[in-house]
Amino acid sequence: MIPESMSPGVQKTEQQHRSDICGVGRWIHDRGFVASTDGNISVRLDADRILTSPTCMSKGMMAPEDLVVTDLEGRRVSGTREASSEIAMHLLIYRLRPDVNAVCHAHPPTATGFAAAGVALDKPILCELIVTLGEVPLAPYGTPGTPELSDAIEPYVKQHDAILMANHGVVTYGPDLLTAFMRMETTEHFAHVALVTELLGGQKLLSGAELEKLVLARAQYGASSRAPAAGLHAASGGFNGSERISLTRHELDSLIDEAVQRDRAQR
Ligand code: 13P
Repeated sequence: MIPESMSPGVQKTEQQHRSDICGVGRWIHDRGFVASTDGNISVRLDADRILTSPTCMSKGMMAPEDLVVTDLEGRRVSGTREASSEIAMHLLIYRLRPDVNAVCHAHPPTATGFAAAGVALDKPILCELIVTLGEVPLAPYGTPGTPELSDAIEPYVKQHDAILMANHGVVTYGPDLLTAFMRMETTEHFAHVALVTELLGGQKLLSGAELEKLVLARAQYGASSRAPAAGLHAASGGFNGSERISLTRHELDSLIDEAVQRDRAQR
């Protein structure tokens, strides 16, 4: 059950954030998204401070007092343990995405398998994915715990909410920790389905026209006319699997506006 404090939009105390990070640590461990001491989780406490999981500790066994507060340079402000060795990657995401308040990094086996095989999760095969997470790109390899890692993901951070890190794992982020965690769960689920389609002989991709209808349907359901997906690949015209158009956030917004206006004109 999701603790009430984790509901999106709830204003939290530092103690609640500590408890949420420990909770998400248990979730990623229990679901097999991490092994041993893998993974790291952080939350933006305020304009100057980040609360992060410690390094070299099972993320399924953390207690609130194990967490570390750092400044925006990654220097420890409080806590007895060392901050995550990948804090620089989290700080980069907070710097580039003012809308992001939580980051989750893990090594879920199927999505990490795609990352290790050099295959992005960027095919339009699932309707839900298209209007929620969008594509999950593959960032090149960078040595963990070094600036290489941040450099490798930097080009993808603004346009995406989940990134495969080659030969390493996955990083997801969002306005709150529950969303960041769910994006991790969704990425792994997406990878699992993509793998099954490969085993069954291939993927039947949604066309550009289907994508447009999905976007319109979402607008009509009133959830949001702005898909949270940062970028996605739509099949163009009569889709043949090789031609894809990359849509940025801005282009997707225009597509939604056009679709809504066309729908209104036809009524
Ligand atoms: P930390 O324990 O230092 O956060 O690192 C874990 C990890 O997943 C490295 O990729």
